[in-house]
Amino acid sequence: MRKRVIFITGASGEVGQALLKELSQQAENQLLTMDLHPLPLELRSLSTHVEGDLLNLRLLARLVSEYEIDVIYHLAALLSTRAEIQPEEAHQVNVEATLQLLKIAAEESQWRKRAVQFIFPSSIAAYGLPDRETKMHFQRVREFEWNQPRTMYGCNKLYCEQLGSYFSRYYRQLAAEQPPTIDFRCVRFPGLISAYTVPSGGTSDYAPEMIHAAAQGLPYACFVREEARIPFMVMPDAVRALLLLAHAPRERLTRQVYNVTSFSLSAAQIRDRVLAAFPNAQITFAPDVKREAIVDSWPADIDDSAARMDWDWSPEYDVDRAFNEYLIPIIKQRYQPG
Ligand code: SER
Repeated sequence: MRKRVIFITGASGEVGQALLKELSQQAENQLLTMDLHPLPLELRSLSTHVEGDLLNLRLLARLVSEYEIDVIYHLAALLSTRAEIQPEEAHQVNVEATLQLLKIAAEESQWRKRAVQFIFPSSIAAYGLPDRETKMHFQRVREFEWNQPRTMYGCNKLYCEQLGSYFSRYYRQLAAEQPPTIDFRCVRFPGLISAYTVPSGGTSDYAPEMIHAAAQGLPYACFVREEARIPFMVMPDAVRALLLLAHAPRERLTRQVYNVTSFSLSAAQIRDRVLAAFPNAQITFAPDVKREAIVDSWPADIDDSAARMDWDWSPEYDVDRAFNEYLIPIIKQRYQPG
């Protein structure tokens, strides 16, 4: 008998760590995690962890032979800045590995005669506004608008949204036997900020970097100008969004890809909030025009009314709560000397 598990890829990443902590609260959840990197020490008891590459098909085949996968949270990805530096590697990880996992989910679904659930985080990077004027004009963007990403990561995410949707509806549509179906569900996240971890390789990273640097007494030069604005969300809400969507009754879902967001801030507004908490913080602005152009192509805000309507999404942390009750107190404590 294979062991039934929830499978989390990219488990050592920011979202992965937070999701793993949350899912492990429920004793009945058997968790299988995978990442190129080991889990942090304090999380190692929470799952069976496989250190390895998703592109290693033999390893994936071995996992499928040992485990019956109920749900896949496919979080592994190279983020937008890193993907510009290594576009082919990004395509392999972000697209080819996703394709392999979708295939596994489809085969498992057919074997069990029950759809494997495939939860996929996409991103505001799936949008691409052509210039700042257009961004000013279209303030809250809906899922189907401006899907012309200008980054490799954005293209990868947008395509995998489509691929997931294809696998759930049409995969092997010409085969004689009943085609396998999967239950594909996807959220488009804004920039994410965690109190516990700092991202690497993203382009919304200036926000978490600014806060974590200030708490450590380190100077920070922000790589976008003061007016640059995108939506953000804190990590507990990101995890909640994934779990709410996973648990939503399927018949209530009117789409497969949903925007979710919490608050939208300019870089200057983030600086002001950081200064209010850390008055000695040394924050300057030294825009990197290329990374800034990527941020400028992302919407200033996104419309998440479909998620609110279909699965009762609403963030628990608005901007005040996010800073006053989550980010600042936890980050302060984290870097306290001694
Ligand atoms: N945080 C991601 C990035 O910066 C965007 O979703 O790449």
